[in-house]
Amino acid sequence: MHGSWTYGQHPDAVVVGSGIIGAACAEALTRRGVRVLVLDRGAVASATTASGEGNLLVSDKPPGPELDLALASLRRWPALLAELREELGPRRAACEYERKGGLVVAIGAAQSAALHAFAAAQRPVGVEAHALAPDEVAAYEPHLTPRATAVLHYPQDAQLQPVLAATALLAAVRARGGEVRGGVAALGVRRDRHGRVRAVRTARGDVPCGAVVNACGPWAGSFADAAGAPLPVAPRRGLVLVTAPLPAGTVRHKVYAADYVGAVGAAEADLRVSTVVEATQAGTVLIGSSRQRVGFDPAIPVAVLRALARGATTLFPLLAAVPVLRAYGGFRPYTPDHLPVIGPDPRRAGLWHATGHEGAGIGLAAATGDLLAELLTGEPPHLDPAPFRADRPGLRGAPEAAGGVPAGVAAVAVRPGPGAAGAGVVAMPPGPGAEGPVARVAVGGGGGLPLTVDGVARRARPGDTVATVLLTTGRAAWRTTRGGDRPRGVFCGIGVCHDCLVVVNGLPDVRACLREVASGDVVETQRGAVLPAPATGAGAGVDGVAGRAGGGAVDASGVVTRPRAAAVDGDDAHGDGGDRA
Ligand SMILES: Cc1cc2nc3c(=O)[nH]c(=O)nc-3n(C[C@H](O)[C@H](O)[C@H](O)COP(=O)(O)OP(=O)(O)OC[C@H]3O[C@@H](n4cnc5c(N)ncnc54)[C@H](O)[C@@H]3O)c2cc1C
Ligand code: FES
Repeated sequence: MHGSWTYGQHPDAVVVGSGIIGAACAEALTRRGVRVLVLDRGAVASATTASGEGNLLVSDKPPGPELDLALASLRRWPALLAELREELGPRRAACEYERKGGLVVAIGAAQSAALHAFAAAQRPVGVEAHALAPDEVAAYEPHLTPRATAVLHYPQDAQLQPVLAATALLAAVRARGGEVRGGVAALGVRRDRHGRVRAVRTARGDVPCGAVVNACGPWAGSFADAAGAPLPVAPRRGLVLVTAPLPAGTVRHKVYAADYVGAVGAAEADLRVSTVVEATQAGTVLIGSSRQRVGFDPAIPVAVLRALARGATTLFPLLAAVPVLRAYGGFRPYTPDHLPVIGPDPRRAGLWHATGHEGAGIGLAAATGDLLAELLTGEPPHLDPAPFRADRPGLRGAPEAAGGVPAGVAAVAVRPGPGAAGAGVVAMPPGPGAEGPVARVAVGGGGGLPLTVDGVARRARPGDTVATVLLTTGRAAWRTTRGGDRPRGVFCGIGVCHDCLVVVNGLPDVRACLREVASGDVVETQRGAVLPAPATGAGAGVDGVAGRAGGGAVDASGVVTRPRAAAVDGDDAHGDGGDRA
């Protein structure tokens, strides 16, 4: 006998994983009257989905099953969001959806020819791609590099905020009587004597059900193993740089370099970096994108950040002068043939999969949910499910992408040297304004102001913050939290979160993101925090920086600090007074 949870009613289906894919499946199932329980071992939508930039793209996909799924999803998203607005009200269904369009930029004759050929192959299957004349480009993207030799506009590309979208989908699941539980790991399945899945095993007991949907993202391979039906889903790490908020309209589309397509479709484990730049509704600019298969290694190598920053300043020279707020990473669920797995597992009756969407899960979620639900309820599927089967040959180790990468669209491959912070940087000249913060991340250390960091002599340039020096010398973290000794570095970048505290000239709790370096500074990394620090004057906060937006200040170590930006909205707002969990 196994203990079992008590529910009002046993669910028909348990969806394991509450990322965008699990949420979309659960929504589509409950819309068809299926009783659903969603389990997640963590917080809702807090894993890969929280790292996603939220692009809903057709522009980067060659003709083939993934593009078919992307086109179906792109059509479905606006209708689905309208239904959620109707059902939940505008506030709970809000997820910053915007059909902003994408621009793909080629530099050089070979890239231009390859890009035009790629678009010519996409158009017959329903992708809209318009080549912009040189005098049209500025109206679309005023700050784009003048070095562009071909720019294609893809008006269908859209964007939304992935966590808001997932939580809206799950709100609909709850509204229809489904349940969503975080903090519960699924350990495997129980089968009856015919081998059919009859329950999900959890540490709190079994959950009897008729079907189990594996929507575990990059961990789907582990869950499939535990369910006795191995699936080759592996993590592929991606890093993103986030800049300070810029005025609306500075970056208007999702803009990416033509070599991005090659990086997405590549099969090697080596690092691949290609430039993607886009603004969020909060005004921050997201700079991606790297791809590397390194297991679940959470490191944020500075060499990768440099390559991202260099690529961004190549596409948008003005970004060189913009502060970097933070960098973060996530793990895309990768399959050997770059196609998701959607549908029943023929080896285990009652086990279903919806996973392996790699770098496109946000975009593909709407159609994935529908396809899974159609198959599970016996409805005719709205598109051919065969390419996504769990027993297809492409999952047995085929190394290359179905559909392939067009000839001439080559990815930039970067191999960082061991331990060398400056190694592996793509050799592109920094654009105008190269002394600004993004450019400083791109080009590394140097400068005329001497200082020491933990006893090691360093040099900074006038205007560098302590955080800039630490980042450019290869440090992503330099403090530990008060509880749990967890590593911290720059998070908000605007003096709000207190993650970046350092000791400067003996004074603890100095915010590295605000404090400009002065000649002879002695910087030491800090363990924990002394917070709250004694005030040094009316309205002063820690490190003596006045706790208000705007205006510089003199900190308690006697040096001018940067004006503090107003707290930004959305994912960068923090303000928890330090020691972020
Ligand atoms: C840097 C980066 C940028 C990206 N940008 C984009 C983009 O612009 N557009 C786009 O379409 N895609 C993008 N992606 C890809 C996209 O984020 C993913 O494809 C998508 O989030 C995958 O969603 P998921 O629900 O499958 O996985 P996840 O969001 O990881 O959800 C899986 C969930 O399963 C849970 N889980 C795992 N194992 C268990 C278990 N045993 N028991 C219970 N729960 C379990 C996890 O806790 C997790 O919450 C990006 C990815 C990265 C890393
Ligand atoms: S990163 Fe410096 S206060 Fe947030």
